[in-house]
Amino acid sequence: MGLLIFAAHSNNLQQLKEQDIFLLAIESSCDETSAAIMHNRKALSNIIATQKVHEQYGGVVPELASRAHLQNIVPVVDAAIQKAGIAKEKIDAVAFTQAPGLIGSLLVGAGFAKSFAQALDVPLIAVNHMQAHVLAHWLEEQSPSFPFLCLTVSGGHTQIVLCHSHLDMEILGETMDDAAGEAFDKIAKMIGLPYPGGPLIDKYAQLGDPLKFTFPITDMAGYSFSFSGIKTSVLYFVKKMEQQNPDFLKENMNDLCASVQYTIIRTLMKKFEKAAKEKGITQVGIAGGVSANSGLRQAMQQAGEQHGWKVYLPKFEYCTDNAAMIGIAGYYKYLNQQFCDLKTVPAARQLW
Ligand code: KG4
Ligand code: ZN
Repeated sequence: MGLLIFAAHSNNLQQLKEQDIFLLAIESSCDETSAAIMHNRKALSNIIATQKVHEQYGGVVPELASRAHLQNIVPVVDAAIQKAGIAKEKIDAVAFTQAPGLIGSLLVGAGFAKSFAQALDVPLIAVNHMQAHVLAHWLEEQSPSFPFLCLTVSGGHTQIVLCHSHLDMEILGETMDDAAGEAFDKIAKMIGLPYPGGPLIDKYAQLGDPLKFTFPITDMAGYSFSFSGIKTSVLYFVKKMEQQNPDFLKENMNDLCASVQYTIIRTLMKKFEKAAKEKGITQVGIAGGVSANSGLRQAMQQAGEQHGWKVYLPKFEYCTDNAAMIGIAGYYKYLNQQFCDLKTVPAARQLW
């Protein structure tokens, strides 16, 4: 089974000589405007402007995100070039996030990337955001070998990805409803925490008892996930407890966060361990915003020790959305001559 998403190119990457490439990468799929300058696999700069405007709404407001990207894009790219200490004429190619994401936000990054590439007369590279999260592992000196199994957990996606090579990836399973990050954020909102709630649940969870409250670990068929059950279960549980004690949340925040986080992590790890075992993979890792979660990082390390895996955890800077990951994906696409033209349009959903 499995759906081929990132079409393999007939060229063999191994046979391509490493070239000396400077690349400008742009990420604008959601609420981070980011630009990076890459020198081959090394990020010389990785500037990230996080949009604060959404906090008061408890989630990302797409129209406000596009407007903030428009304001941020020029200063962010400028800062990335300055920090890298190179002249913009040195740039050999421009990579940008094409999909998936908020269409208005993607359009800002794509429009800027196209203009920049045209002005410098250099090739343009369209990057899949989810593929880039996985490839962030190759920003590190110590990078995985293939086959590599990655648990990609972000605000919009939850996927078990089997990587045959840098650009040949297969999604073994994904969520049927909410993404793991979305579950963190929605539950956080329910219990009165501001957006994005994932990092806050992580913070409180570190002080709480993960076994204090029990929520369902949904077991879907194959390698699929579902997080709607835990969300509903927390909602009704908190309502019931607040009827008995109006201060329930205040008094139990740490234990509640620890129990919620434990349930989400168990749901993820159960499927991931099944996939690694059945596919016989020992090079494993996590990627995406939720890979910053301290509990998930620990759970993956522990599973690694138990199963004899080599575990790769991305640096915090490369977990949440950033342009360096678009840059490393762009680098491999450059080596593989996978360029796009000015007609390439962004897409809200994954295209493959
Ligand atoms: O990859 P990302 O930056 O954006 C998307 O591509 O969606 O992921 C953002 C998600 C949010 O849902 C955020 O709450 C979650 O990652 N996140 C965390 C943590 N840090 C970020 N979730 C749990 N624990 C964290 N420490
Ligand atoms: Zn992301």
